[in-house]
Amino acid sequence: MLKGKEIVLGVTGGIAAYKAAEFVRLLVKQEARVHVVMTQNAQKFVTPLTFQTLSGNPVVTDTFALIEEAQIGHIALADLAELIVILPASANIIGKIANGIADDFLSTMVMASKAQVLFAPSMNVNMWENKALQKNIKTLRDRDYHFMEPGEGELACHWYGKGRLAELGDVLERVEDILSPKDLKGERILVTAGPTQESIDPVRFITNHSSGKMGYGLARVAKRRGAEVVLVSGPTSLSLPHSDINLISVKTAEEMRKAVDTHLKNCSVVIKAAAVSDYRPKEVSQKKLKKTASSVSLEMERTRDILGEIGKKKGKRILVGFAAETEDLVSNARKKLKDKHLDLIVVNDVTKPGAGFASETNQVKFLYPSGEVKDLPMMSKEEVAQVILDEVSGLLKRKRK
Ligand code: PMT
Repeated sequence: MLKGKEIVLGVTGGIAAYKAAEFVRLLVKQEARVHVVMTQNAQKFVTPLTFQTLSGNPVVTDTFALIEEAQIGHIALADLAELIVILPASANIIGKIANGIADDFLSTMVMASKAQVLFAPSMNVNMWENKALQKNIKTLRDRDYHFMEPGEGELACHWYGKGRLAELGDVLERVEDILSPKDLKGERILVTAGPTQESIDPVRFITNHSSGKMGYGLARVAKRRGAEVVLVSGPTSLSLPHSDINLISVKTAEEMRKAVDTHLKNCSVVIKAAAVSDYRPKEVSQKKLKKTASSVSLEMERTRDILGEIGKKKGKRILVGFAAETEDLVSNARKKLKDKHLDLIVVNDVTKPGAGFASETNQVKFLYPSGEVKDLPMMSKEEVAQVILDEVSGLLKRKRK
């Protein structure tokens, strides 16, 4: 999502400046174009050469360096920036920008830019709690500047409290949030993810290999694109993809069905990426089954088809299903598309390396009620989620014309 985005990283003087180097690496990994601006104090902590090497671009260190000014003057960089991230942001730079002071390259460039600005503050806890700083932050928040909340813990100055630089992964997530189009704003999207577990006895259950990655990717991207997201998830080891997502944790297919039913009401879109058990043991033993017999048989009964039931009462909703197949992908998925009254089915061959269960990537085909089939290349699950949500966005527009 950050591919080709022009991001200016302002580094100010603070011990967390060394973390900015890692942040550049993360941005470059996402194929963003990174331009680093360092204040004079930042250069006392880390050298410009580190940032130049990691970003592959010249580093701006001085407002009045004529050669640099000719190459990438503050106006050029201010215009080029799609986002300015100040990490770490000192109390000094926050105070200067809040009060319209432009006395070095970074503060001058921020003043000259129309790009959004994200501050990731890092400082001593007493500085953080200082009323002047808090007033400056409020001033900037009121002017739609973005802030990462600093973390709490032992600080480099050995004080304990708030002031640690936010986790870099969280800053990256916020960058992606800010730069994402908000085309799903106003939509309420219900996503299901992960496996279900059907108990046999108090210690054993039947499940499948779903990790939840595909569904969590969908929830994360939908949230980034402005939707309100309800994520109904079976048991996974993943952490909540976004703090503003309403996560409903369930175990069994029946619990998932009830949770979906409860939250379906105001949803305009339902995406069912969960791998739901089609069968469950007819009887759940209250006691652990003993290994007395040489073999055992379990009688299984069907679970209810959650998506099939929604399909029957879909109304104006957009319904997207998945199909986990091992053979005859298109014909099997086409049947599910029709039987469940879906607007789109995403089929993956779960026997293919790098696709389906638990992998970071997936390779899918889209099938539409018109009969059209679209083949997609192998992509990260988050990229697949982006493409699915592009389709959803288009379907919503067409439906409302
Ligand atoms: O979680 P990951 O490790 O990232 O793996 C991703 C995935 C392989 C689980 C995902 O890409 C996927 O294919 N999910 C659907 C798995 C599945 O249950 O497919 P199915 O063909 O059995 O079911 C078809 C559709 O009906 C699915 O949308 C499913 O959620 C739904 N269903 C199935 C049974 C049931 N009782 N109720 C349902 O709603």
